[in-house]
Amino acid sequence: MRLTLASMAATQLLDALAHDLRHSASGAVALTGAGVSVASDVPSFRGDSGLWTRYDPAEYATLAAFRADPDRVWGFLRELDELLASVAPNAAHRALAALEDGGFLSHVVTQNVDELHQSAGSKQVVELHGSGRSLSCIDCSAPFPRDAVPERAVPRCAVCDGPVKPDVVLFGEQLPRRAFVRAQHAVERADLLLVVGTSAEVEPAAELPRLARRTGARIWEINPEPVLDADGTIAGNAEEILPAVAQRVLGRRWSRRRRRGRRP
Ligand code: OAD
Repeated sequence: MRLTLASMAATQLLDALAHDLRHSASGAVALTGAGVSVASDVPSFRGDSGLWTRYDPAEYATLAAFRADPDRVWGFLRELDELLASVAPNAAHRALAALEDGGFLSHVVTQNVDELHQSAGSKQVVELHGSGRSLSCIDCSAPFPRDAVPERAVPRCAVCDGPVKPDVVLFGEQLPRRAFVRAQHAVERADLLLVVGTSAEVEPAAELPRLARRTGARIWEINPEPVLDADGTIAGNAEEILPAVAQRVLGRRWSRRRRRGRRP
């Protein structure tokens, strides 16, 4: 059955999702995308405010582009890094962290590289598209210390002199295999998959809802413009919906967290 705000009162939808979370035997898995960070002012990849309206992915975000002109791509990466250094988690990240803390969520599998789930207190975070915490050489994979990155020039590998880049996944690059296997195992064990703020267009992340379908898990989607044929759909913003769900599932524990303004 497809539940939408149009077909069912909002509160009933929230109650239904809270019920599913409370009765999940294994703990749910959340799959998140750029939409979960929109309220933190991290631009999403598609849509009007998308980063890609200024930076054509073919020119800036492919491994081939990096090999051809690392200097140019580093300009984009430095801008991304500066932007990410200035953002903070929002209520959606905090609600997911609180649900994990309460034992209702086993993992957050994210396509984001902004580390806001970790900042909010989520512990079991699987980063499908890597992160900028570490850097490595694209030729020999040797790690490169973050604090040794020069202010302007492209960092070069101390071992082979190849160009170094942050370990965020570019188009045309393999996903960190261990992260994807960990995500698959988490989804296989889950009886509920919560898909939040992703256009679910990019493979192989888009495979995870299909995997959940095959293993018989219930799928809920939270997105102002839903894209999946889920068991339950809440057409709305993650930063509004997830706190309302956490309130229903965690009750006073969530209210206390909010009052204290504590980072979960
Ligand atoms: P997209 O930018 O493709 O999709 C963002 C989704 O968030 C859309 O479906 C929006 O409707 C939804 N959205 C917008 N505001 C929201 C809000 N407040 N609450 C909830 N949802 C909201 O981002 P991703 O699906 O994450 O890959 O993109 C996946 C991958 O494509 C990225 O990780 C990146 C990109 O190319 C790489 O860099 C390898």
